[in-house]
Amino acid sequence: MKNRGFADVLIGLQYGDEGKAKVIDLIAKNYHIIARFNGGANAGHTIETEKFRVALHQIPSGIFYKDKILYIGSGCVVDISKMIEEIGMVEKLGISLKNRLYISDQTSIVQPHHVLVDIHTAGKIGTTKNGIGPAYADKAMRMVNGRHVNIKLGELIDNPALFDHIKKNLERKIEKHNATGYEVTKIIDTLKKDLKNLMPYVQRDTLFLQKLVDGGKNVLFEGAQSIMLDITKGLVPYVTSSSTVAGAAFVGGDLPVNYHRKTIGVAKAIMSRVGNGPFVSEFGGKKSEEYCKDPTHNKNYEKQNYDTYKMLASDNQFDVGVALRILGNEYGTVTKRPRRIGMMDLVQLAFAVKTNGVDEIFLTKCDLLVDFIKTKSKKIPVVSEYILNSKTIDYVPGSNTLYAKVKVKTTDFESFTEDLSKITLWGKLPKQLLTLLGAIEEKTGCGFLGIGVGSKRKQFILEQKG
Ligand code: GDP
Ligand code: IMO
Ligand code: MG
Repeated sequence: MKNRGFADVLIGLQYGDEGKAKVIDLIAKNYHIIARFNGGANAGHTIETEKFRVALHQIPSGIFYKDKILYIGSGCVVDISKMIEEIGMVEKLGISLKNRLYISDQTSIVQPHHVLVDIHTAGKIGTTKNGIGPAYADKAMRMVNGRHVNIKLGELIDNPALFDHIKKNLERKIEKHNATGYEVTKIIDTLKKDLKNLMPYVQRDTLFLQKLVDGGKNVLFEGAQSIMLDITKGLVPYVTSSSTVAGAAFVGGDLPVNYHRKTIGVAKAIMSRVGNGPFVSEFGGKKSEEYCKDPTHNKNYEKQNYDTYKMLASDNQFDVGVALRILGNEYGTVTKRPRRIGMMDLVQLAFAVKTNGVDEIFLTKCDLLVDFIKTKSKKIPVVSEYILNSKTIDYVPGSNTLYAKVKVKTTDFESFTEDLSKITLWGKLPKQLLTLLGAIEEKTGCGFLGIGVGSKRKQFILEQKG
């Protein structure tokens, strides 16, 4: 087709929360459609405009461009009631989603029992308790004892008898987990009402997106979670339950692979991870992982109990991590949990770029690197080498046991004092930062689209090409 459009894919390259939404908000003007292809309400995608700070969970991050179509592909799992709530939240901002938001009728529904099961079993993994794992598990199970456990949006609209299955699924799990406080009839009635309200957004043409692109529209696929949390490529069980890698956009996003143009990877300059699992560059290692499991160690607690700059100058890596979390405001968008903080890991980043065929990197949170000038060493440490059984390796191992055996080597880069949010040109960046960016480029073999220098919409610098 001569005038066919194309699809670019934007994914997170680390453990989530890299600032994907901010980058999408920045580049959305170059596309006609912003589309999700995986995950559900477990995502927390923040955009800070001049007027608003919005955290989106299920709706694609193109809301602030009124002419953009927002599409939710069949690979996502949709929580109907939370979606209605989120639509309401966006409309309260004065943004209409009518004739803009389209949800594939092939998305599977996150049913009430999925959330119940997640709440009762989330512990070891530290999930967001949005029912994502149980929903994807039931998607694969299809039926259990004659009950439909995978129910798609379109099927439920066409066959209301499926509400009985949703009810029975819930009753079954209430019994199994001895759960209290569930008013089943009320829950089902609310769901029925919410489905009715969601109907105008449900797209019944399964070729909807493809027809738009065939007609010349361009798509930006918005990854949720990130490649290290991929159900297949990540380290189980410490992953999410969907495919987060770039290739997944062309399964869950309802478009053939040959529409792909380029892949943009978003990484953050100081890494974070929320939830449990390996994180080899973590400041304070195991101690930090254990500490961050306690949700009471939230923003208020840390601000009240710690002297941030004293912690930052400490010999102790755990203390440095706490200080960087406070300064970077690293608390979960969905769960408010403290995010575990780590050095940028160049081996992991290069691996992420290679395995996803990333064409351009956007490095967010470079403004926070300035904090390192107040650490004891005054340097920016990054992980530069993995050693496994005395040999250097260039990959993230495929098992937790093997990954635990990896010894990491770090390299210190010079830090800087300049306030990056005052700089607008790439060439005017501090030379120390340009050296670090050069090292990233060399290690990953991938150039930059730009960097983030603050949380607000205008706080970015694009790399000038040519
Ligand atoms: P996402 O899930 O990848 O979209 O990221 P989140 O929204 O969960 O978390 C990223 C956080 O970092 C948000 O609070 C953003 O406002 C903020 N952020 C994004 N880019 C930058 C940046 O360049 N500098 C700073 N300081 N904050 C940023
Ligand atoms: P965005 O799109 C960071 C983590 C959870 C937990 C694991 C499994 O905002 O980057 P789940 O609820 O998916 O079953 O939880 O995955 N997790 C995220 N971490 N950012 C996210 O999304 C995440 N979505 C899930 O903390 O460790
Ligand atoms: Mg997030």
